[in-house]
Amino acid sequence: MKSYHVTTFGCQMNEHDSERMKGMLESLGYVEAPGRADADVILFNTCSIREKADNRLIGHLGEAKRLKSENPEKVVGIGGCWAQSLKDEVFDRFPFVDVAFGPGQVPKLAEFLTSDSITAQGFFEFEGFTGRLPARREREFQAWVQISVGCNCRCAYCIVPSTRGREVSRPAHELVAEAERLAADGVREVTLLGQNVNSYGRDLPVGEKVTFAELLAMIDAVDGIERIRYTSPHPQDMREDVIRAHAELRSVCEHIHLPLQSGSSRVLKRMRRTYNRERYLDRAALIREHVPDAAITTDIIVGFPGETKADFEETLEVVDEVGYDSAFTFIFSPRRGTEAAELEDQVPHGVKHERMERLVELVQRRATERAQRFVGREMEVLVEGPSRTDPSRLRGRIRHNKTVNFDGAASPGELVQVRIDSATSTTLGGEERLLARVA
Ligand code: SAH
Ligand code: SF4
Ligand code: F3S
Repeated sequence: MKSYHVTTFGCQMNEHDSERMKGMLESLGYVEAPGRADADVILFNTCSIREKADNRLIGHLGEAKRLKSENPEKVVGIGGCWAQSLKDEVFDRFPFVDVAFGPGQVPKLAEFLTSDSITAQGFFEFEGFTGRLPARREREFQAWVQISVGCNCRCAYCIVPSTRGREVSRPAHELVAEAERLAADGVREVTLLGQNVNSYGRDLPVGEKVTFAELLAMIDAVDGIERIRYTSPHPQDMREDVIRAHAELRSVCEHIHLPLQSGSSRVLKRMRRTYNRERYLDRAALIREHVPDAAITTDIIVGFPGETKADFEETLEVVDEVGYDSAFTFIFSPRRGTEAAELEDQVPHGVKHERMERLVELVQRRATERAQRFVGREMEVLVEGPSRTDPSRLRGRIRHNKTVNFDGAASPGELVQVRIDSATSTTLGGEERLLARVA
């Protein structure tokens, strides 16, 4: 039997695409190999969002090159956004690569592996939703659902529109059918994926148009789906109907990831984010009004070209005012072909790092403060497995997406009540309420 090994970099969309790659390979009769050395097909699902992602990949490719030179029968494939951004250049720079394909061309990998072609090939035209391929899920009770691909925004720093193309939504009936299938298969939590989920449906034909809020209601109605998450919405399109869905629909979780990027309207404009500081704060206030206990999380970039000390201070103000439960913070990284990479007034390295330190400190302080609201409460936890730090304990997540390490006897996939007795910026600690589970 032939075997494969997949290494995944990047965001949840790539994790999803890798599960589909694996499902597709298994439907062709391949089995997963424990490591690259044992695999007949070595695959990398790549990311290009920041320079660091590129550098990590190049280290891994060195090993694939060595394995390929020891055994030329092995197939080395590179998929994902980095492959797409380089296209055929991949073969010039890495001659040991047999097949390269972009995020919308995963089905072509099957075609390549089943053909008797021995020449290297690249596939970079949009071929179809990876979400339509069979999946090999990481966990049987959680699933990704790809609701759209691509992005029509033009954020000045971002490479994604050039790697994932224009936005295309999957028809709602297809997504509901998928949720039903998943529920029947034991899935309790779904995460809806798109680059800009709340512009979902705008490109669907008249008569089939469904808004993102309507889609949430349709999936909420599927029996067996206990939790719905999604990522990422765009603050510009975050309408009241979506926020209300968190309050009104049973399975939509009390967590909203609302990428800020910068707290300065001047920088947001240069980033082409299409909202300003006031609009963002207004969205955050609306969330607090309808879902007071919701966790709000975000993405922030420091050191965007031209960011002044005063602009950065405005970011700190917004972070303080919103009170995020957690935040992903990034140092601006110029990406080839993007508008921001060409801007003159790049922020010096040292300044970027110093701002990053200050930002992280504030984010952590606010997150720690916010987390204290859970102490003393009983929270519903979806059990994921043993705790990473202490295998005698369990690990799971509350609806607000915080990780909990707790003492208990439940199995992965179960929903249990946990009494929270401690909280840090990133994790909660607690004890399972056994009586509550029996009752
Ligand atoms: N479509 C999603 C995710 C985009 S990528 C969204 O719009 O929210 C995830 C995050 O990476 C972005 O939100 C941004 O904060 C960060 N990012 C993207 N390009 C970057 C760059 N060139 N330098 C630093 N951070 C970047
Ligand atoms: Fe990139 Fe902006 Fe699109 Fe997000 S919304 S993927 S940051 S261009
Ligand atoms: Fe995701 Fe990286 Fe592509 S963040 S969309 S895999 S560039």
